[in-house]
Amino acid sequence: MLPRPPVPPETRVAGIAVEAVTVEREGRPILRDVSVELDARRTAVIGANGSGKSTFVRLLNGLVLPAAGRVTVQGLDTQRDAAAVRRRVGFVFTDPQAQILMPTPIEDLRLSLRGTSRAETERRVWATLGEHGLSDRADVPASALSGGQKQLLALASVLITDPALLVADEPTTLLDLRNARRIGDLLLSDPAQLVVATHDLDLAARCDHALLFDDGVLTASGEPAAVIEAYRRSCA
Ligand SMILES: Nc1ncnc2c1ncn2[C@@H]1O[C@H](COP(=O)(O)OP(=O)(O)OP(=O)(O)O)[C@@H](O)[C@H]1O
Ligand SMILES: [Mg+2]
Repeated sequence: MLPRPPVPPETRVAGIAVEAVTVEREGRPILRDVSVELDARRTAVIGANGSGKSTFVRLLNGLVLPAAGRVTVQGLDTQRDAAAVRRRVGFVFTDPQAQILMPTPIEDLRLSLRGTSRAETERRVWATLGEHGLSDRADVPASALSGGQKQLLALASVLITDPALLVADEPTTLLDLRNARRIGDLLLSDPAQLVVATHDLDLAARCDHALLFDDGVLTASGEPAAVIEAYRRSCA
């Protein structure tokens, strides 16, 4: 099993409180009375297809709002303080296509930093391209990038904004082993607090904490090894 990367020295923990949250779709509860405080640096969210992982992580930046209960990030309510929450939370989708907005990688990263001075933008854009192994892809059409390179670019466009909380929904699902590890390493070593929904149990094992969902209910919260074991037992 891959090691857990050391916690970076400048670690920030945003502090997330989910209080008695229910989410409904088409009159049916898809998350039921979920309460949890997340103050671990890196939290994995695991569970079967349709168990509520994506719904849960989408609560954290206000993409999904509770029908009952409340969610706060750094004390900010995702419903009441929606704009402030979105500024602090970076969200990485499974499909990088949803996130790449500009024709080339360099333009995409510049867009993430709009409002920043030109010199500072160029410095950070080139540093980020280097960290993500994309320096020689800066000016190629984004459509010509491989799947793994697209995911690296999508992650780069979020990390370059320096979010306090990084939320990722199955960021390694479409990737080969090498790129899955690379994305995992980048996610796990970033100073932002991380919450990642994943079927990649190696990635989950490398987090500091894990949550298990089953049919919209939070059924386990604790050390990743124990929570992964509970998940395996529930599937046996
Ligand atoms: N917009 C929606 N309208 C109706 N039902 C929804 C909607 N979004 C999610 N659901 C339902 O809620 C349940 C939980 O879905 P969710 O996407 O959170 O699961 P998941 O754990 O992320 O699954 P997967 O591992 O397949 O990604 C599923 O039964 C799904 O069909
Ligand atoms: Mg999902």
